[in-house]
Amino acid sequence: MQDRHTARVAIVTGGAQGIGRAIAARLIEDDFEVVIVDLKGSADAAQDLGEHALGHDADVSDAEQVQAMTEAVLARYGRIDVLINNAGIYTSLAKRPFDQIPPNEWRRVFEVNVEGVWHCCRMVAPTMREAKAGVIVNIASAAVAKGNPMLLQYVASKGAVLAMTRVLARELGESGVRVNTVSPGFTLSDGVMATAGQRESQLAGSRDARAMHEDLQPGDIAGAVAYLVRPEARMMTGQNLTVDGGMTMN
Ligand SMILES: NC(=O)c1ccc[n+]([C@@H]2O[C@H](COP(=O)([O-])OP(=O)(O)OC[C@H]3O[C@@H](n4cnc5c(N)ncnc54)[C@H](O)[C@@H]3O)[C@@H](O)[C@H]2O)c1
Repeated sequence: MQDRHTARVAIVTGGAQGIGRAIAARLIEDDFEVVIVDLKGSADAAQDLGEHALGHDADVSDAEQVQAMTEAVLARYGRIDVLINNAGIYTSLAKRPFDQIPPNEWRRVFEVNVEGVWHCCRMVAPTMREAKAGVIVNIASAAVAKGNPMLLQYVASKGAVLAMTRVLARELGESGVRVNTVSPGFTLSDGVMATAGQRESQLAGSRDARAMHEDLQPGDIAGAVAYLVRPEARMMTGQNLTVDGGMTMN
């Protein structure tokens, strides 16, 4: 492990639990200092992860809170090398036909899943541009490729994330900043497990439909993120890495 004045610094949004927490743990293993950003519980999660994690409560859909978080990270570490845009509304959503989605729910999903990514990217971009280096990984979903029914607001929001990655990669490429997407399939995160009782048929259906007839774990997603932030991925940008056990194939 390096000391915190020389180690690379990664921000992981939605890192208090689930896939984000697995990403945070993996990046710490890979010698990053990690800042966990979540609505609540980020300090506790950071404490569990040890001395190389710091928690900062913030709502990614609130530009002022994201700006304050970015300033706090820079004040402490003086650098931001990696941003993982993982925070998202998914596991709390009820499945509904597209014409029965409450407009407030649609707006909130877009505020968090789409605007939240935009706020985080625009707040860290000046630091990455100045450093002429940086890596952003946006967590989308394999549901975009599959077109999962009954979740139009969610699938549309993740489609936007996939598209944003491509534009951001082109706008930031000349500054040496890479931007990629990781698209998980149905993954046994904390949020999913909290409703596992209602999801057994979904879990079994997902296993059957995969080339690999197994459940996806948060660590499987973290492995793909860990690759994308490494220097050996230096020519990977604007790409989408799908981790779904071979349910969809491109
Ligand atoms: N689990 C899956 O099957 C699956 C599949 C594809 C994509 N994803 C995506 O992966 C990401 C993580 O999902 P998960 O399954 O680990 O979910 P989860 O519900 O277990 O965790 C999500 C975390 O994001 C945080 N969060 C939500 N809104 C936030 C906000 N406005 N500001 C800051 N933090 C916020 C939550 O508090 C929570 O800690 C999400 O973007 C989700 O859409 C999940």
